[in-house]
Amino acid sequence: MLYRKWGSKEDAVIKYTSSVDSDYAILEQVKKVMEAHVVELYLNGVISKKTARDILLAVKEFKEIKQGYEDVHEALEDHILTKVGEEGGWVGMARSRNDHVATALRLKMREEILEILEDLLELRKVVLNKAMEHKTTLFPSFTHLQPAQPTTFAHYLMYVEEEISSRWGVIFSVLKTLNRSPLGSGAIVGTNVRLNRKREAEMLGFDGVVVNTVSATSSRADMISAIAELATLMLSLSRIAEDLIFLSSSFVGYLRLPDSQVSTSSLMPQKRNAVTMEVLRAKGGECVGILTSTMAMYKGLPSGYDLDLQEMNSYYWKCTSIVKATIEVLKDLFQGIQVVKKDLDSSTLATDEAERLALNGKPYRQAYFEVKEMVLSDKFTSKITLEESVKLKAVAGSPNPQILEEDLKEALTRLERDSKSLDDYENLILSKIGQLRVVEDDVMQEGL
Ligand code: ARG
Repeated sequence: MLYRKWGSKEDAVIKYTSSVDSDYAILEQVKKVMEAHVVELYLNGVISKKTARDILLAVKEFKEIKQGYEDVHEALEDHILTKVGEEGGWVGMARSRNDHVATALRLKMREEILEILEDLLELRKVVLNKAMEHKTTLFPSFTHLQPAQPTTFAHYLMYVEEEISSRWGVIFSVLKTLNRSPLGSGAIVGTNVRLNRKREAEMLGFDGVVVNTVSATSSRADMISAIAELATLMLSLSRIAEDLIFLSSSFVGYLRLPDSQVSTSSLMPQKRNAVTMEVLRAKGGECVGILTSTMAMYKGLPSGYDLDLQEMNSYYWKCTSIVKATIEVLKDLFQGIQVVKKDLDSSTLATDEAERLALNGKPYRQAYFEVKEMVLSDKFTSKITLEESVKLKAVAGSPNPQILEEDLKEALTRLERDSKSLDDYENLILSKIGQLRVVEDDVMQEGL
C-alpha cells in the first residue's frame, strides 16, 4: 500500500475499488510505459544514468501484483522503491496513473488488434481457397429463409469473405487512430517537466500523440471504437454461423460441417449438432453486451479521469479474446466444410423464366404473372437449367463462374495488398520501438 491515505482497513472496501485482478492483462504494457517514462526522465536530466539503470532493472524484475494494492501502478512503484530505495521515488515525477493506464490500454489494444488482423487475413485465405474449389458447385440462396434463386457455393463464400474483408479495413483504420500516445499528459493538464511527448510516443511505437492532455488522460472513445468494430465483425460472423447451422441441419442438408465442429447428443446417437456455430452465435450476443456495458459506463462521465473508466478495462479483453477464439474456430470450419450433393428446388428458376420472357420483349410484370400462374397451378417447368441459371447472371458480384473468377482474383489481390500494408505497419512499429531499446541498452551499460 503506497498511495492510500484515507485509511480503510476493511478488505471488502479495499477490494471494491482495486483493479489488481484485471490489471494482470496489462502488466507487460504498464512496465513498458514505465520504462519509456524512466528513459524520458533520464534524457531530460531529471534522473542520473545510474538511477535510470537501477529503476529499469527493477521494472524488468516486476512480475506479480500483490493483493492489498489499489492497482498495478501502485504495486510497481512500491516494488521500485523497495528495490532501488529512495532514488526510486523519482518515478512518481511528471507522471500519473491516469496517463500511464491510458497508454498501457492503447498498447495492449494495439497488440490485440494486430493479432486479430493477422488471424483475419488467414481466415480470408482459407475462405477464398475453398471458393476456388466450388466455382460451379450449385448451392441454394435464401431470402426470408425461403428458397430464392440458384447460386454456387463459391458465391456464398465470396459473401463471407467480403463481410470479413470490409470489417478488416475498418478495424485497421480504427487501429491507426488508436495508435496515438497519451503518455506525458500527467493527471489532466500535463507537467512542469519538459517531457518530450513525441519522443515518448516514438519509443513506444505510436504514430503520434493524443495532443490535448484532457483527451489523453480521460478519453476512452478510441477504445470503444475498437470493440465496437470487433462487435460489428461478430455480428456478421454470427449471421454466418446461423446460416451454417441451418444449411447443415438434416432438415435442409446442403452442407456437412467437419466432424471437429459437431457434437452428438448424449441420448440421440444420430445427432450432428453444430455446436461451435451455436456458441459463436451466442458469443456475438456477448460482444454486443460487452460493448453496451462499456458504453453505459462511459456515457455521461464528466471529462477528466474518473474511476468508472477503470471498470471498463476488463471488458476490452473479453471482447478481443472472444474474437480471436472465434476466428480460430472458423478457420478450421471453412477448411473442412463440404457441400452435400442435393437437388435444388426447380421453382427457384421462376425468376430466370420471367426474365427470359421479358428479355424477349414481354414487359416484366406481365411475364412475372404468367410464370406465377404456372407455379401456382403446379405447371411450372423452365427451359433454363440450374447450371444455365447461374451462368446467365450478368452483373458483377453474381455467381456466374466467369464473373466470379474475376471477383475472386480481385479478392486475392486485395488480400495480398492488405497483408502487405499490415506487414509494413508492424515493421514501422518495430523500428520505432527499436529506439527505446537503443537508449535502454546504453543506460544498462552504466557502471558495468
Ligand atoms: N487503476 C486505474 C485504472 O485502471 C488507474 C488509477 C487511476 N486512479 C486514480 N485515482 N486517478 O484506470
